[in-house]
Amino acid sequence: MRAAVRDRYGPPEVVRVEEIDTPTPVGDQVLVRVRAASVNRADLDGLYPRWQFTRLFTGVRAPRVHRLGLDAAGVVEAVGPEATRFAPADRVFTDLSVFGQGAFAEYVCAPERAFAAVPDEMSLEDATTLPHSAVLAIQGLRFRDGRTVGAGDRVLIVGASGNVGPFAVQIAKGRGAVVTGVTSTAKLDVVRSLGADQVIDYTTTDWTQSGERYDWILDVEARHSVLRARRVLKPGGVYVSLGGPTSLIFDGMLVGPLVSKATGRGMSLMTWWKPFRADDVDALKALVAAGTLVPRIDRSFPLNEVVDALRYADSGQARGKVLVIP
Ligand SMILES: NC(=O)c1ccc[n+]([C@@H]2O[C@H](COP(=O)([O-])OP(=O)(O)OC[C@H]3O[C@@H](n4cnc5c(N)ncnc54)[C@H](OP(=O)(O)O)[C@@H]3O)[C@@H](O)[C@H]2O)c1
Repeated sequence: MRAAVRDRYGPPEVVRVEEIDTPTPVGDQVLVRVRAASVNRADLDGLYPRWQFTRLFTGVRAPRVHRLGLDAAGVVEAVGPEATRFAPADRVFTDLSVFGQGAFAEYVCAPERAFAAVPDEMSLEDATTLPHSAVLAIQGLRFRDGRTVGAGDRVLIVGASGNVGPFAVQIAKGRGAVVTGVTSTAKLDVVRSLGADQVIDYTTTDWTQSGERYDWILDVEARHSVLRARRVLKPGGVYVSLGGPTSLIFDGMLVGPLVSKATGRGMSLMTWWKPFRADDVDALKALVAAGTLVPRIDRSFPLNEVVDALRYADSGQARGKVLVIP
């Protein structure tokens, strides 16, 4: 089968597509013919890690994992002798974050717990947009103590136009929240079209100084300290960051909980992410079926052009998810 591989860290150009053996499912594994995969920020972070400390886990000099791609949707081709949940011809999707990656390929093979069924009425293209980013969005709208966004809450989504933000805007709107989205000038229309009530252009306006106060802030890629974000959080409000530069990751992880304790607010880097958690996947399927959540796809690239797909996603031009089609 054809698969995207790389041997070293570097820009998308280090990736090549080559012939490798098609795996045979053993035990409870499932072999899936990929129909569509999608690109996430995590794929780019894995290519050339922004945070050098993560190389302690992924390989100091060179990446330990040579395959690429987290999100895939496709059709079951074969199952191992112990698999009970799926059979050939079933439509499934997955986030391979903790299953060795490899979604940018003609086939993926992983234990059956890595997969969930795709509803009949959902296209495989739409399905592949959801596993990584939409799950991050729904979990970023739930604090570690179970608090979550409700009707009438004033919600700020910082980074509303990328992979995660559009899902977060739509989920919060679906719960009856009043949503403000932060993005750059060129994508204000994208965020408005998602249903955001207000938009803030980060190239002209600093959201920490807007004078507004929010019940919930989901900051996809932190650019400000927790202490600064606290200024625009209502008493009892929640600030969740998903990532950012190393200093702000530690700020969210260490200072956030201290500020939470001292002020009664909930402030933290999201440390409770559970990739492809079944309850959240079911909730996302229901939101798509109800029309509350509409996946946005910008462009599809054939697998042979995976380098262009990664480059395009990295350029920040995409106005929706970028797909890779084997
Ligand atoms: N905590 C966890 O467990 C966990 C697990 C996996 C991933 N993550 C993190 O989840 C995040 C995924 O984000 P993503 O895939 O949605 O990223 P993305 O697609 O790169 O989107 C980034 C967003 O940030 C906006 N942005 C850029 N510069 C900004 C600024 N100065 N101020 C405000 N907004 C700005 C972009 O807007 P424009 O496009 O208009 O510039 C875009 O909307 C990453 O941070 C990743 O590290 C966290």
